[in-house]
Amino acid sequence: MQQPAPWLWDDLDATLAEVWRCLGAGASTRRSAFHHPTIATTGPDGAPRLRTMILRGVELEIRRLRLHTDIRGTKVAEIAAKPRVAVHVYDPGMKLQVRMTGLATISHGDPVARTAWQNAQPMSQACYGTRPAPGTTIAAGGDFVLPASHSPELAEGEANFAVLRIAIETMETLYLAHGGHRRATFAWEGATLIRKDWLAP
Ligand SMILES: Cc1cc2nc3c(=O)[nH]c(=O)nc-3n(C[C@H](O)[C@H](O)[C@H](O)COP(=O)(O)O)c2cc1C
Repeated sequence: MQQPAPWLWDDLDATLAEVWRCLGAGASTRRSAFHHPTIATTGPDGAPRLRTMILRGVELEIRRLRLHTDIRGTKVAEIAAKPRVAVHVYDPGMKLQVRMTGLATISHGDPVARTAWQNAQPMSQACYGTRPAPGTTIAAGGDFVLPASHSPELAEGEANFAVLRIAIETMETLYLAHGGHRRATFAWEGATLIRKDWLAP
């Protein structure tokens, strides 16, 4: 006997509301799959580049995700050149895949970055003091230094700290159900939802 999808996944508005709820909660729930999305950029050769990042905050009313990164990292230059990015989450417990695209901006050395830095844990701040810079070739795996958690050098990492914000423009959900998957697509132009449709899975 095939199981029907729970009512939620047969309702486009409820699907959308549930994904935003999961994203909002995911920023502060370590065990949530939404806490560590995969972020895709485009490299200078046109090839996609993926990496896991921690979701630090969500501004629900403007559909904007906040993540933290090192200004010296490869992804920052990629975003400066091509700010369109993609975001992927798969939550195996919920049997839900979410794919999004959006426009990324980097804040560095400004009030946005300063506030986020001041609210970051010392353990997280320490990562931004890595020497040499992330991605530098080193002779052995351990040939790098990090400032100690409460050392004066910790503050120097602020110069490398950047906030990545992604304004979500499209979203596609895929809910896996024995009785038939549910796939939905959504798109926005500014504050306006311009597409809300079911798709064949
Ligand atoms: C669980 C996990 C969480 C991570 N969180 C972040 C993060 O929040 N910010 C970040 O810049 N890199 C994070 N990383 C490291 C990135 O995946 C990536 O290796 C690094 O940022 C270099 O990427 P880039 O060369 O594309 O800039 C995380 C990696 C893992 C495995």
